[in-house]
Formats: sequence, C-alpha cells, structure tokens
Amino acid sequence: MLGNFIYHNPTKIYFGVDALANLKEEITGKYQRVLLAYGGGSIKRNGIYDLVISVLRKCKVEIVEFAGIMPNPTYEKVLEGAKLVREKQIDLILAVGGGSTIDCAKAVSLASYHDDAWNRFWVKHEPISQKLIPIASILTMAGTGSEMNGGTVITNTEAMLKKGTGYIELNPQFSILNPEFTYSVPKYQMLSGIFDIMSHIMETYFSADDGDNLSDDLAEAILKNVMRNTKVAIEDPYNYVARSNIMWDATMALNGTLDPGKDGDWEVHAIEHQIGAYYDVAHGMGLAAVSIAYYRQKIPFAVARFKKFAINVFNVDPDKKTDLAVANEGIDALADFIKKSEMCSSLRELGISDESKLKAIASSVSCYPTSYQTLTTDDVYKILKESF
Ligand code: NZQ
Ligand code: ZN
Repeated sequence: MLGNFIYHNPTKIYFGVDALANLKEEITGKYQRVLLAYGGGSIKRNGIYDLVISVLRKCKVEIVEFAGIMPNPTYEKVLEGAKLVREKQIDLILAVGGGSTIDCAKAVSLASYHDDAWNRFWVKHEPISQKLIPIASILTMAGTGSEMNGGTVITNTEAMLKKGTGYIELNPQFSILNPEFTYSVPKYQMLSGIFDIMSHIMETYFSADDGDNLSDDLAEAILKNVMRNTKVAIEDPYNYVARSNIMWDATMALNGTLDPGKDGDWEVHAIEHQIGAYYDVAHGMGLAAVSIAYYRQKIPFAVARFKKFAINVFNVDPDKKTDLAVANEGIDALADFIKKSEMCSSLRELGISDESKLKAIASSVSCYPTSYQTLTTDDVYKILKESF
C-alpha cells in the first residue's frame, strides 16, 4: 500500500552520448576551484580523463587532482581529500568513476569542515552542522546508484567496519551518464555492478508492505530489464542498448523510486559490507555470493512474496505445485542466473580460501529489525557457512 511519503531527489541527470557537453554550462561561472576526484587510473587508460580535462579547461576553473581512490574507499583516503579541500579552498568536488569514487567524494565533502566525521556520521548518523562542498559526478560504471542518491559507504580499516550513511545534501548536484563510458569496464566488474543493481531492487522488494504497490511492479520490471540486458552485454560489451538500459536500471534501483510503501530489508548489504571490511572484495560479487543462502532462509517467513517473485520475474509455472515449491523455484532460478552469468556463487569463488574469519565477520554484522524476520548472529554465521 502507498501511505504518506515525500519524494524528493535533487540530482539532475544528463544521460546519453552527448551528456558530457553539459559539463561546461554546469560549471562555468558557478565554481572556481574544482577537486577532480578519480580512482586508480582507468579514466586515463580509456580516455575519459582527457575528455573531462578538455571541458574543464574551457570552464576557466582551477583544477586540483585527487587521484588514487581505491575500490571500497577508506576513511584514511577521505581525510586526505578533506585536507586538500581545505587547503585549496575547493568549491566543487567532481567525481569521475564508479561508486567508490563518488562515495569518497561525498565523504570528503562531509569530512572537510566537520571534526570526527566517522563517529558523527557513519556511526551516530548525526545531523549536518557545518559547511558541505557540493559534489557532481561523471559515472563510468553502472551499479551502486551513488550518482543519484546521498549515500556514501566507507571502510574504516582500523575499526574493521564498512558502513554506509546518507544525507540528501550529499546528492550530486548533477550527474553525467554516458553509457559508452562503461564499455571499458572489465566483465567481472560489470557483473559485480549488475548484481548490486539486482540486490538493491530485491532488498526493497522482499520487504513489507506486501500489498498492491507500484514500487513492486516497477521493481519486477527493472529486474527483468537488467537480466535481459545482462545477457546481451556479456555477449557484446559494446552494445549501446544493453549498456544504456543497465546504466539507467542502476540509477532507478537506488534513487528512491522503488521506496514508497516499502520498509526495505538491507540485511544482505549489511552482511556483504562486513565481508568487505575483512576482505577487499568487489561489492556486487560479495552480494551475489551470500544472497542465495540468505533468501533460502527467508522464504518460510514470506512464502507468498517469494512465490510472486518466482512467477512474475522468472515465469515459474505454479500449476499443481505448493506455494513453497514455487517460492523455492524462484530462488533456484536466481541461483541459476548467477551461475550462468559467471557471477560469484560462493565465498570461495569470491576468493576467500578458508572459513577462519567467518565467525568474526558474523559477530560484526549489524542485525537490523528488518522485514519478515530479524536475524541473529548465529543466523548470519549459518548463512556465511552455507555461502562458503
Ligand atoms: O579505480 P578506477 O580506475 O576507478 O577503476 C575501477 C575499479 O577498479 C573500475 N572501473 C570503473 N569504471 C571503469 C573501470 N574500469 C574500466 N573502465 C571503466 N569505465 O572498476 C573497479 C570498481 O570500481 P568501484 O567504483 O569500486 O565499483 P562500484 O561502482 O561497484 O562501487 C563500489 C562501492 O560503492 C559502494 C560499495 O560498498 C563499494 O564501496 N556502494 C555505494 C552505494 C551508494 N552510494 O549508494 C550503495 C551500494 O550498495 C554500495 O554499498
Ligand atoms: Zn549495493
């Protein structure tokens, strides 16, 4: 059911092969000193860096580079960027990259003029009280949805915690989405991003309210779209139709569109984030590795919902079958999709070679009072063991 809700997403999206042309007008006359944030160098290899620099030069701004943002960005890196912002009096952070670069840019904005940002924002989720630096993004990889939300996920290596926080003030002012920029994403990372998209959708879909709700209908449509286009993009990485659909699927999956009327679950993400805190893994692959075990233990608490998923998303034929059998077939089909697409089906495939840290990981996972049932640390441990 759709009850009361506020929908407000302040990010402007420029989408398509000509999208970068809008950068000049967005920057000229509005900003003077731009922090150009990027990752480990893929944008230099694929030519995006040169394209962006040539537009920025026309904007007559001072460009300060903040390079080397790693996948699963660390708080240490955030503090390095925050120092640069203060020293150079930056007035816009332009993130060029995937979710890690955009998240790091948002975190730098938070940490530039707030002391003790980790505790205040990632641990205690305090309100913002000091100046923020506006951020904008040029997306190079589809997955997280960070280009159109206020979320920022950061790893604190000392505390062994990977945590997300979110503020609407951190939504990018604008984001530039050119699907061609994703052509060079390696297959493994593309698939990781794709399962991330699916998980964002499923973790909203597999949560109350189960009543008639546009959010659920949209979720099913986006899931089918992303799976159909994944098959095409695997065969033909330069297929614009597939890449453009996947890119917009990613944005739609986590920009608030699917939230009205839904509680959200997010326990798969909570588990993956702690796997990520212990092992530096690709986020979406980590989600794929634990999702099947997670959903299998969840089915008994929400049989009707899993049955609907099986029929509407995977065309499972319910004739002469129990509801539970249909529900299970849906998750079998999801497991099959993961396997056939060559996503990680287990923690071992993710590169974790032994079970020695699974207990510690389980103990560090936040068990949210999420929809249908709340996990215990023991449940998390069982899921990790089964996923191994
Ligand atoms: O380091 P660079 O050079 O950028 O290379 C990256 C990186 O090695 C590479 N890549 C990106 N675009 C490319 C490319 N390589 C070639 N060509 C391109 N066009 O891909 C690798 C992975 O990039 P990364 O940004 O780490 O991937 P992703 O977009 O999956 O981001 C993952 C991070 O986002 C967080 C995750 O936890 C993880 O830390 N999340 C953020 C969310 C949010 N803000 O809303 C929600 C998500 O659930 C997620 O937790
Ligand atoms: Zn995610």
